[in-house]
Amino acid sequence: MKIYIEKDYNALSKKAADIITDFVKKNSKCVLGLATGSTPQKTYDLLGKMYKTKKVSFKNIKTFNLDEYSGLATNNPQSYHYFMKQNFFDKTDVNIKNTFFPTDFAPNYKKYDKKIKDEGEIDLQILGIGSNGHIGFNEPNSNFFSKTRQVKLSKNTIKDNARFFKNKKDVPIKAVTMGINTIMRAKKIILLANGSNKKEAVFNALCKKVSTKTPASILQNHKDVIVILDKESAEKFTRLNNFAKSKIKI
Ligand code: PGA
Repeated sequence: MKIYIEKDYNALSKKAADIITDFVKKNSKCVLGLATGSTPQKTYDLLGKMYKTKKVSFKNIKTFNLDEYSGLATNNPQSYHYFMKQNFFDKTDVNIKNTFFPTDFAPNYKKYDKKIKDEGEIDLQILGIGSNGHIGFNEPNSNFFSKTRQVKLSKNTIKDNARFFKNKKDVPIKAVTMGINTIMRAKKIILLANGSNKKEAVFNALCKKVSTKTPASILQNHKDVIVILDKESAEKFTRLNNFAKSKIKI
């Protein structure tokens, strides 16, 4: 595990965009696993700018999104289909025919894992982390062997996501997510976190024993993970005594 601690959200996003751009330049036909949410938004913005200035092309990549709400139309501004279109697909030369979302495979979500496998697995997976330590919508106590499936969102996640909706009652309570096993099969993973509301989850994921209580802690067992944090999300992690306890090499 390689960990970068950047001074703020902009620096974190720049680091992530540079790593992704380098990767795509070297692997123009790669398969990317994509996350949504406020964390990677600026990264996508920068990737769009890199495309515009001809620093990179995404025309031959394939993409698999990590998750999507159940019951939202794809043109609903809160859907992840919409997010990806607005923030990345429409800003680059990604071929929309090569973009996939788990809800498109309803009700047989096993086909999503099969499709990922048939494409040779995900080469680079981008991940955020929930304030409860979830990855994708794999909430605490999710099985580490889980595959793509429909899940009920935890109260904590519904509360966190309410900021995107006019009324709390509009927040979907179900979603379809890649499983933890689906994510762990990715060849390389970039985990991003920013803001002090993530510091507890970051600490639990990186410094505590691997446990289903913090789904992101399973990443300690993956052989190729890059973690990019801003100072606020890294605060608890970097306190000297905890740092020494961490088994992670920086
Ligand atoms: P956020 O979500 O980027 O909107 O904070 C992260 C997540 O829940 O995985």
